[in-house]
Amino acid sequence: MRILAIETSCDETAVAVIEGNFRLSEKSLKIVSNVVFSQIPLHRKHGGVVPEVASRAHLEKFFPTLKKALNPLRKNKAESFQKLLNKIDVFAVTIGPGLLGSLLVGVNFAKALSWATQKPLIPVNHLEGHIYANWLQPISKLKIIKFPSVCLIVSGGHTSLVLMKNHLQYKILGQTLDDAAGECFDKVGKLLDIPYPAGPQLEKLAKKGNPKAFSFPRPIIDNSDFNFSFSGLKTAVLYTLKYQKLNLKNSLLISDICASFQEAVTEVLVKKTIKAALKFKALSVIVSGGVAANKALQKAMSKACYSLNLPLFFPPSFLCTDNAAMIGTAAFYSSRKNKKYPLFEIEANPNLSLG
Ligand code: KG4
Ligand code: ZN
Repeated sequence: MRILAIETSCDETAVAVIEGNFRLSEKSLKIVSNVVFSQIPLHRKHGGVVPEVASRAHLEKFFPTLKKALNPLRKNKAESFQKLLNKIDVFAVTIGPGLLGSLLVGVNFAKALSWATQKPLIPVNHLEGHIYANWLQPISKLKIIKFPSVCLIVSGGHTSLVLMKNHLQYKILGQTLDDAAGECFDKVGKLLDIPYPAGPQLEKLAKKGNPKAFSFPRPIIDNSDFNFSFSGLKTAVLYTLKYQKLNLKNSLLISDICASFQEAVTEVLVKKTIKAALKFKALSVIVSGGVAANKALQKAMSKACYSLNLPLFFPPSFLCTDNAAMIGTAAFYSSRKNKKYPLFEIEANPNLSLG
């Protein structure tokens, strides 16, 4: 089965082609192409994603991205775009959650492609896509993702703990009550004059800093539920900068703030994930979403899981952030249900939840 997947839920225009065959083995899954047009330079000057700018850029970039993703299917130069599209068996698209204007672009292009080629279209939840990025691991690792699994999804728009009892079966255990973890990285980065999205650069600066230099709060870390809250942590950094009259030109000081902040976020994420894994007797832990690319988080989570003999999975960095290969993978698994999705029933839903 060859799936063409489309992802436009936020600020990446992404199209991927993946191939797999369940009759051979679910491990036959491979990425043929995974094209991501990042809009980051467009949004950077505004310090965050501007929804109107994002949907316009999706409209402009969709066709170039689609053509690039189809290119590896070309056997000779003369093959038309139409012919390449006819080599696709199934289309898949992110229908939510995300920005409505952005989602509408991908969903409507996907519907048009499905209608024109008379091939089915599978709607995919963006968070489900982030989770399934873990099934694009090298085959030897894939063998050991056992259920039940506790999944931590940490991105710019979401922070959720999900219990996965089996493929495509999700129960939300908790989520953020305010800012997402990645959003908190971006907002703290803004306070420190780090360009959007601040996560990767903040991580780099943190490497040179002392994580014990500032004692930032670990919000609701000991609550009995599995929810998160990060807005107070961001405010704590703001007040530290304001009332301690810290000099933002002192690079060592900035590194100390980054390291201390990163450690506070990491500690909360690890503690809640491990608590959930123990409570629900998880046989594996999965971490995904943009913040999953953070090496300090990977290290702390690995240490905690190792001590409990719990297998832990992170996608490779290029599959942590938004991409369409993960959407195609989720569609590959849901195609096993053989469910039909009439085109007129497929709609963008910015508030779509998992499960
Ligand atoms: O998954 P993603 O591409 O988009 C959403 O679905 O939101 O995640 C983007 C988020 C941004 O907030 C970015 O700052 C954060 O992931 N991020 C990181 C790192 N790489 C990306 N945060 C911390 N450390 C990183 N290395
Ligand atoms: Zn995402």
